[in-house]
Amino acid sequence: MIEVKDVSYTYSGNRNVLEHVTLNFQKGKLYAILGASGCGKTTLLSLIGGLDNPTEGNILCEGKDIREYGLSKHRQEQAAFIFQGYNLIEYMTVKENVELTAKLSPEESLTKVNLGKEFWNRNVLKLSGGQQQRVAIARAIASDKPILLADEPTGNLDEESAREIVELLKKSAHEEGRCVIMVTHSSELAEHADEIFNFNYNDGTV
Ligand SMILES: Nc1ncnc2c1ncn2[C@@H]1O[C@H](COP(=O)(O)OP(=O)(O)O)[C@@H](O)[C@H]1O
Ligand SMILES: [Mg+2]
Repeated sequence: MIEVKDVSYTYSGNRNVLEHVTLNFQKGKLYAILGASGCGKTTLLSLIGGLDNPTEGNILCEGKDIREYGLSKHRQEQAAFIFQGYNLIEYMTVKENVELTAKLSPEESLTKVNLGKEFWNRNVLKLSGGQQQRVAIARAIASDKPILLADEPTGNLDEESAREIVELLKKSAHEEGRCVIMVTHSSELAEHADEIFNFNYNDGTV
């Protein structure tokens, strides 16, 4: 589904953040990208999501270079982001947030992340962190993009909610056939993924 081929990236003029990284990601799997703070996890995720082009190397989605396909088209059609800070629209309800970009039924997506009807018309700020993150996942699922990119999705959550979020991401990969990539610095959470790419040994080959 996604091929990261010999990718390097430099923020204007600085040293390389990523150096010759080559990775493959398939549909139907949950991947964990594990690494210490500052090692380039967010940078890699943003390149896979088409927020910028690599300085060197290529990113292919279904065999097509996303640079040639068009980054904005790639973002609109193929990659959904889930952030540590949820990024929900705060004056809207649960359902309104999910409806925004929905191609699939918002109700079904909310049910999939175990958020019952009683929450749907509630303002998102009146939810716990774990519940807000479930809304963000429902929004990503409802957008029906094949790639879910989750950047430290459990960073603000207690252990139990964190575990539940990882299970939901895994379910989305396994049952809906999405390619789900989760960035984390917790090796304990990474253990729940189908595959771990460990960036602590930053040689790019993993
Ligand atoms: N916009 C930016 N401009 C310059 N340097 C940046 C920028 N964003 C991140 N960096 C640097 O790139 C490195 C990797 O950052 P990042 O990908 O956010 O790491 P991680 O997500 O693993 O913590 C860090 O050293 C960081 O300081
Ligand atoms: Mg980061």
